[in-house]
Amino acid sequence: MRRRRGYAAPIAIAGALVVVLAGCGGTKTAAPPAAGTFDGKGPITFALGKDTSGFVPSAVEAWNKDHPTEQARIIELPESADQQRQQMIQNAQTKSDAYSVLNLDVVWTAEFAANQWVEQLPEDQFALDKMLKGPVATAKYFNKLYASPYLTDAGLLYYRKDLLDAAGISQPPTTWQEMQTDCTKVQQTNPKIGCYAGQFEKYEGLTCNFSEVIDSAGGQVIDDQGKPVVDSAAAKSGLDFLVNGLKNGLIPKEAITYKEEEGRRAFQDGNLVFHRNWPYVYAKAGATDGSSKIVGKFGVAALPGLSGPGKATLGGHNLAISKFAKNKGSALAFIKFMTTEAEEKAHLQKTSEAPVYKSLYADPDLVKQFPYLPTLQASVDAAVGRPQAVKYGEVTTAIQEEAYAAITGTKTSDQALKDLQAKLTTLIGK
Ligand code: GLC
Repeated sequence: MRRRRGYAAPIAIAGALVVVLAGCGGTKTAAPPAAGTFDGKGPITFALGKDTSGFVPSAVEAWNKDHPTEQARIIELPESADQQRQQMIQNAQTKSDAYSVLNLDVVWTAEFAANQWVEQLPEDQFALDKMLKGPVATAKYFNKLYASPYLTDAGLLYYRKDLLDAAGISQPPTTWQEMQTDCTKVQQTNPKIGCYAGQFEKYEGLTCNFSEVIDSAGGQVIDDQGKPVVDSAAAKSGLDFLVNGLKNGLIPKEAITYKEEEGRRAFQDGNLVFHRNWPYVYAKAGATDGSSKIVGKFGVAALPGLSGPGKATLGGHNLAISKFAKNKGSALAFIKFMTTEAEEKAHLQKTSEAPVYKSLYADPDLVKQFPYLPTLQASVDAAVGRPQAVKYGEVTTAIQEEAYAAITGTKTSDQALKDLQAKLTTLIGK
């Protein structure tokens, strides 16, 4: 993640506001603590995207037990990242105090910080030096901390180990061509199984998948100087992997409607040989409650690429405090509680969601339970960030529109990349 020239730096506002507090003792006026002091204590809310893991309620319950006067209430937002963003922005634009702690996608920090929708956090109260560098960088804007790193994410290749073994294939593929060849072999005895799917619906997940194929073919969406460079031959080879895949059946047609959960279900129902998804799928696909048909039959590898291993997009979430929240002291304490190493370890053990603490990736017990942890750490370390733009909403919309036009065949790859280059140049170009 890099910061871009031309974006407004956040301006600290320390104005003392006067609020009216209505309580059983009547109505009184009081000056709230100045921004950044985090003094206020009392009930809070935690706004996050649909919790498909089921872990968060138990963590919140544990907090509530120990903090009876500072109880946290979960506000569940939609499953899609774009809709979560929209609701959080609406909440901020109306200066509503409904959301206290925000589970911010790692790509929204610049936008929320620059618009002063979230508080700057005291860096010395977080163990940032024990955390992975990439995720820590996503929580900062102009080198100031606006959220605590919470859970990280990198795209992984889930594969049906049992089917590869049966076809005499001992290793997962490292290139798209190998993946195609492996599928052809597997499909000889399993003619109905689909080969590969990621997230190709028109939403944030498509931005991640699009960026991954561009990066995995040696291209870039934005170069190291922050300049859009997506109109390249390498980018075209990457995009063509998806375009041709959908044309020639490597990617089943229905994958055009997949977000994370639809793809995961297809994979764990046994309908795909290969599946690109985030770490949380490991626990779900391995669940022994009868919901998965592939327990003990799948493995996890790094994403493949055009002529060698691919590159993942860096995902994940950070915890921030809404500028308009009440009880920011409790909100800060809650964030610190949710992001301790012990809490993240418990979270990993229950959900396979990726922690931000380095030490957990080298913990022998955890590696035994989650053999893909070293692969995941390498993928996170090498993962490519999405543009850290204040106008992120417009940037991702441009990517989604052009990528979707190409994969649905309404535009050629060439035209889509040319048009995307023009849009990105207008939005963030130099
Ligand atoms: C995951 C990632 C997040 C990404 C989203 C896209 O939740 O952690 O960063 O934006 O998927 O669907």
